[in-house]
Amino acid sequence: MNGSKVNLRAFESEDMKELHHWLNDADSIALVGRVPRTYEETVHHVEKKRKNGDLVLAIENEELELIGWTFLQNIEYEHGRASIGILIAPEYRGHGYAGMAMKKMIDIGFKQLRLNKIYLTTRGINERAIGLYQKTGFIIEGQLRNHAFSDGQYYDTYFMGILASEWKG
Ligand SMILES: CC(C)(COP(=O)(O)OP(=O)(O)OC[C@H]1O[C@@H](n2cnc3c(N)ncnc32)[C@H](O)[C@@H]1OP(=O)(O)O)[C@@H](O)C(=O)NCCC(=O)NCCS
Repeated sequence: MNGSKVNLRAFESEDMKELHHWLNDADSIALVGRVPRTYEETVHHVEKKRKNGDLVLAIENEELELIGWTFLQNIEYEHGRASIGILIAPEYRGHGYAGMAMKKMIDIGFKQLRLNKIYLTTRGINERAIGLYQKTGFIIEGQLRNHAFSDGQYYDTYFMGILASEWKG
């Protein structure tokens, strides 16, 4: 943790090139269980999220460098819920940025979008992400056995959630 702050701003088309690099980072592929994506597929992925009404934001550090992205997706106002995602550029991991960015995004979800619940799924091998989510206040609500397949092996997936009433912001 280096004590600096993060800023969330709209994710712009100019940020797409960086995102394409991050999504093709070997760790990101292994931890999130994707396959490599072309630049065009990355653009299509973001456009699809925008069409879905997802809130897609870029994360900047104090020097206004682009260091990652975060989004609220599957926003269902009738149920007051959405799922959250985050990715930090490989060279900026381990500095506490993800924790700070998640707090800001959760604040937006509960205080501006008036959601009641924010949830996510993550794979058991992603200890860093699980540690981050627990520290942020998410609770493991379910463990889905052998739910994901990666590199010749099945892994459990964890369903985690936090309620507005539990959020101290
Ligand atoms: C998961 C990810 C967002 C974390 O970003 P980060 O900036 O490195 O995380 P932070 O530095 O804010 O760490 C937050 C907390 O995670 C926990 N944590 C970090 N590394 C950990 C590890 N190896 N094992 C367990 N917990 C860990 C700690 O509680 C840490 O808090 P601390 O700094 O006070 O110790 C980042 O590694 C990433 O983008 N990974 C690839 C994409 C991904 O996995 N996204 C999540 C998909 S579900």
